[in-house]
Amino acid sequence: MNEVELLNLAREASKNAYCTYSDFPVGACALYESGKYYLGCNVENSSYGLSLCAERNAISTAIAQGEKSKLKYVAIYSPKTTKCFPCGACRQWFAEFPSTDDFKVILENENNTITTYSLEELLPNSFNLIR
Ligand code: THU
Repeated sequence: MNEVELLNLAREASKNAYCTYSDFPVGACALYESGKYYLGCNVENSSYGLSLCAERNAISTAIAQGEKSKLKYVAIYSPKTTKCFPCGACRQWFAEFPSTDDFKVILENENNTITTYSLEELLPNSFNLIR
C-alpha cells in the first residue's frame, strides 16, 4: 500500500468524524508491518476535553483488533487544512508503541503532493519508559 492510497483511506475515514463542536473533521490510517491497516476519525464530546483524535482512534482500534506488528505509517487528513499535523498527545502515542525504523507520518500538501515526517522530526528526545 503506497502513501497516496493511505492518504485516500484517511480521507475516507475523515467522513465519519463526529466533530459537532469544532467542525474540523480528521481521518487517520495506520498501516502496520503485517500489511493490515486501521482507520480512525476524531470523536468529540460535550465535555470538550474528552475528545479523541483520529490518530489515537486508529491506533486504539489496531490494538483492540490484536495487532502485534510494528507501526509503519500513519496518514492524516483533514478537509479543513493542508498538512494536518498530529497534536502533541498523538505524537506521544506514536512514540509509545513499537514502530519500524523508517516509520513515517504522511501528510498532504497544498498542491496534492505528499510530505512525510519521521518520529524524530515530530517529537525529538521523546519521553519513554520502555525504549
Ligand atoms: N484532531 C485530531 O483528530 N488529530 C490531531 O492530531 C489534531 C486535532 C481533532 C481533535 C478535535 O476533534 C479537532 O481535531 C479540532 O481540534
